[in-house]
Amino acid sequence: MSETRVQRPRRFLVCEPRHFAVQYAINPWMQPDRPVDVDLARGQWQTLIRAYRTHGHTVESVEPVPGLPDMVFAANAAFVVGGRVFGSLFHAPERRPESLHYDTWFKGAGYDVYRPEAVTEGEGDLVWTGRYVLAGTGFRTTREAHREAQEFLGHPVIGLTLVDPYFYHLDTALFVLDDDNICYYPEAFSAGSREVLRRLYPDAVLATREDAMAFGLNSVCDGRNVFIAPQAEALAENLAGHGYVPVPVDLSEFHKAGGGIKCCTQEIR
Ligand code: ARG
Repeated sequence: MSETRVQRPRRFLVCEPRHFAVQYAINPWMQPDRPVDVDLARGQWQTLIRAYRTHGHTVESVEPVPGLPDMVFAANAAFVVGGRVFGSLFHAPERRPESLHYDTWFKGAGYDVYRPEAVTEGEGDLVWTGRYVLAGTGFRTTREAHREAQEFLGHPVIGLTLVDPYFYHLDTALFVLDDDNICYYPEAFSAGSREVLRRLYPDAVLATREDAMAFGLNSVCDGRNVFIAPQAEALAENLAGHGYVPVPVDLSEFHKAGGGIKCCTQEIR
């Protein structure tokens, strides 16, 4: 018998995909010559926002800026815990201007924003577990940024090395289920990092490469509901077997940019 999981309402920050496109290639998913259906993308994104609201979550949004096609991936713009906003410094020059617009939003909402010196991509690589931060490195966010984040946030930061270019951000290989457990794809990590995850989460829900390639790890869980790509059918079933409730939301157009549900969602804590 699986336990009854308890949902906690969340506050999300998002950015409408009004100017979404694949215009450059900064990860293996992006092929600028493959067209994106912008209307379909907008419809898919609106379905995600509706699903959040229907499940009792608060959604706020940043105004999209022309010429910043990846700005829809709100997760990458900051990492917020306990009202402390650790801003981003993007690896790709194409994305660097996004930070200014998100920082402006945070300032308007009454937050101070910490500007990092080292490359760091917000919740793409920094994941709050409820007790500490799991932090990815290898492709984008640097070890130096992990140190800066720990110093600024005053929470332990545990570094994990990503090794597969398809899973270039931590949030493409791992997501948090609740205060006690996570779901991840072990082969996306170095041997030592896999061992760390095994020690921290001996009962984790483990995903396959197929689940990961279907963006199944780029999910958002509120403690009970898991907003997950319908393409990750096997993982959704696996999670249901653990007592979580899969809520399928298709963001296939965004997969063409290497992003999914979690990438489009930043949580303000
Ligand atoms: N095209 C974007 C990039 O490569 C996608 C970002 C996806 N975001 C995420 N949180 N994984 O930067």
